[in-house]
Amino acid sequence: MWPSCSFLLMSALLIKRLVAERCPRICLCDSIKYQVMCLNRNITEIPNNIPQVTQRLDLRGNDIKIIPAGAFFPIPYLTHLNLQKCKIESIEEGAFRGLGRLLYLNLASNNIAFIYQESLDGLSSLQQLILENNRIEEIKPGAFGQLGFLSFLNLARNALVYLPDMVFQGLQSIKWINLSHNSLHVLASEAFGGLPTLRRLSLDHNELQFLPTEALSKLSGTNRLDIGHNPITYIVEEGIEMASLKQLFLDNMFLQDVSHRAFVRSPLLHTLDLTNNQLFVLQPLTDMAHLKKINLTGNPVLCTCRMRPFKEWAAKGRIHADVICAAPAAFKGEQLESLRTSAMKCSSHVIQEELLPSLATVTRKPEEDAVLCPKGCTCSPDYQHGNCDNRNLQHIPKGFPSNTQLLDLRYNQFHSIPKGSFPGLKNLTSLHLQNCKIVILQPGAFQDLKNLVYLYLSNNDISSIDADVFKGIPQLAYLYLDHNRFNQMTKGAFTFLPNLFSLHLQYNSISQLSDDDLVGIGNTRWLYLSGNRIVHVSPKALSHVKLLEKLHLDENSLQEVPTKSLRGLLMLSELKLSKNPIKYIGDGAFLPVARSLQHLYLDNMGLEQISTGAFSGLGPKIKSLYLEKNKIHNLPDLSSFTALDVINLSNIPFHCDCQLLPLRKWLDKLNLRVGATCSSPAEMRGKKLKLISTFQRCPGWSTKKVKRLSSTKAKVGRDDNKRSRKKKTGEARKH
Ligand SMILES: *[C@@H]1O[C@H](CO)[C@@H](O)[C@H](O)[C@H]1NC(C)=O
Ligand SMILES: *[C@@H]1O[C@H](CO)[C@@H](O)[C@H](O)[C@H]1NC(C)=O
Ligand SMILES: *[C@@H]1O[C@H](CO)[C@@H](O)[C@H](O)[C@H]1NC(C)=O
Ligand SMILES: *[C@@H]1O[C@H](CO)[C@@H](O)[C@H](O)[C@H]1NC(C)=O
Ligand SMILES: *[C@@H]1O[C@H](CO)[C@@H](O)[C@H](O)[C@H]1NC(C)=O
Repeated sequence: MWPSCSFLLMSALLIKRLVAERCPRICLCDSIKYQVMCLNRNITEIPNNIPQVTQRLDLRGNDIKIIPAGAFFPIPYLTHLNLQKCKIESIEEGAFRGLGRLLYLNLASNNIAFIYQESLDGLSSLQQLILENNRIEEIKPGAFGQLGFLSFLNLARNALVYLPDMVFQGLQSIKWINLSHNSLHVLASEAFGGLPTLRRLSLDHNELQFLPTEALSKLSGTNRLDIGHNPITYIVEEGIEMASLKQLFLDNMFLQDVSHRAFVRSPLLHTLDLTNNQLFVLQPLTDMAHLKKINLTGNPVLCTCRMRPFKEWAAKGRIHADVICAAPAAFKGEQLESLRTSAMKCSSHVIQEELLPSLATVTRKPEEDAVLCPKGCTCSPDYQHGNCDNRNLQHIPKGFPSNTQLLDLRYNQFHSIPKGSFPGLKNLTSLHLQNCKIVILQPGAFQDLKNLVYLYLSNNDISSIDADVFKGIPQLAYLYLDHNRFNQMTKGAFTFLPNLFSLHLQYNSISQLSDDDLVGIGNTRWLYLSGNRIVHVSPKALSHVKLLEKLHLDENSLQEVPTKSLRGLLMLSELKLSKNPIKYIGDGAFLPVARSLQHLYLDNMGLEQISTGAFSGLGPKIKSLYLEKNKIHNLPDLSSFTALDVINLSNIPFHCDCQLLPLRKWLDKLNLRVGATCSSPAEMRGKKLKLISTFQRCPGWSTKKVKRLSSTKAKVGRDDNKRSRKKKTGEARKH
């Protein structure tokens, strides 16, 4: 026993020493807890000299942007990894491979937009994954497939709109999923399939207009559901079918009506929160043997004879009902429980008249024509969706329920959309007609769709649009015409779209933008024209879209920056000109938009020269500048670019002589990964511009700097490490 004990002691000491010796200079290492902290150090890469035995690594508040594949191979014993607020944009496939012991991973408050299927590979022990406060718009089914031990998944505060079927597949041990504060609008009926262990689901603060009854019914083991703060107006009979549900939060919605049979399929319900809705009256709820608490505060409850049945029911079932009366005046502010039933009367004419108009809306029942649905299609009354995608249809089916909000007709073969194809669908907001071999849109095709907001016509064969095609859809905000066959825009094609916000015309064959192409869409903010053949943008073409924020003109045939066309675009913040054959950028090329521009893409252009005044006016507003893959040898003065988050200078053939000294000095201060390498002179080829010492010989290299540099060089070794270690242990004690 002794020998093994002392052996343990010895190896523990050894490990401690290793920890102490290999602590990265900018970090604090606690060798007892095997913990390394490098908080707010502007680190741009995962430090490569973290002690191998580290178990807890805290990198909060750095500047890491990309987590490359295998980034953590050198530290395989990690159990806790905190990467909050690191400006992470992308997690490469296999980024976390090798972290088979990790239990806790915090990626909150970054800029992550996608979770790829292999991004989370290798995290076979992970229990908690925190992705709160990122920009995730979409999750592909299978993304979490490897996380068989995950018990807590936090996706709150992202930009999710839609959850596809089986999106959480593989989470075999999951207990709680938090989806609060997204923009969820649609949940596929099998979105929560395969989650028998889920106990708690948070869907509050989203944009659900209807209870996703079917999707939720798959959660047979869930006992708490938070779905408050969604714009839901009524709950129908059997609206919640969750066999194990005990606590249900339906607060802060727009509820005007709750069916007395709404929860009969959730017989274990114990607590029901209905606070802050629009309920005047609630009927006794049927079959609620386990209900103990119901909260109706913040509703305009009428404590008249109409609430008597509820009061009697609550008293009989010993249900604690928190209900504060809003009317009649005599009972205003009183607890319903404290009233005598006999005093709750309906005789007062005044009250009746006062409240009749609003009561009328209370008694209105939801549409009952939901059974109606064209043959071969499926219509879901709960979400008010119609679905006939991929059915080999040649004609648009008719006879959808009149309350349909989303219609999915993708992958059919319509060829032409005749006038009045969607009669009576006044509430349709989203129409999907992608991949339908459409050649012709006839005038008036969409004429009845008064409330249409999203129109998807991507991947068809449309080559022109008659001026009257978009008549009658004044609410349209998002129009997708990408991947079609436009050579040019029809004059005034968009005249009838005053509320258009986002126009997608990428990947067509448009060769120029003429004066009147964009007339009528003065509220458009995003214009996508990537992947066309544009050689010319007329100086007036963009004057009709003065509120433009994003302009994508990349992958076209422009030979110069269309400066004149940018005049008057005072809100433009993102301009993409990548992959245009622009060889030269002259003085003041971006002046018209210099006050607003934040993201500028000039990469992959074959650019040979940028004049010294090319960026004049641009400065502290610019957050990203992409210049990679060009043929320039030098850059104009960038010292006014003080707020950059991203600058890409890779694949530029820099000639590394003293001429580049100002650039090098600027880069030294910048503290960003830029990727600049030298291409000439020959002996410098491939070397990182930030690391070469050539510049020390140039006039203007400050003497102070030379000294510091050479002294660090000399001491990269024990002395330096010892000193910093001493300092660090001191700091660690303080904490
Ligand atoms: C990190 O960068 C910010 C802004 O450039 C600066 O204010 C801060 O002092 C830097 N922190 C460290 C530890 O270098
Ligand atoms: C889910 O995340 C939100 C947003 O951060 C948070 O406010 C909420 O408390 C979490 N939900 C629960 C039930 O804790
Ligand atoms: C009912 O909700 C209100 C508002 O949220 C709260 O103040 C009150 O304590 C709740 N009542 C009960 C009995 O939980
Ligand atoms: C359409 O929506 C409005 C507002 O939500 C509603 O009042 C109306 O009844 C709906 N119409 C149909 C036909 O469902
Ligand atoms: C620059 O762009 C190249 C090519 O797109 C990319 O591989 C590289 O990671 C980028 N570098 C930086 C520092 O952003």
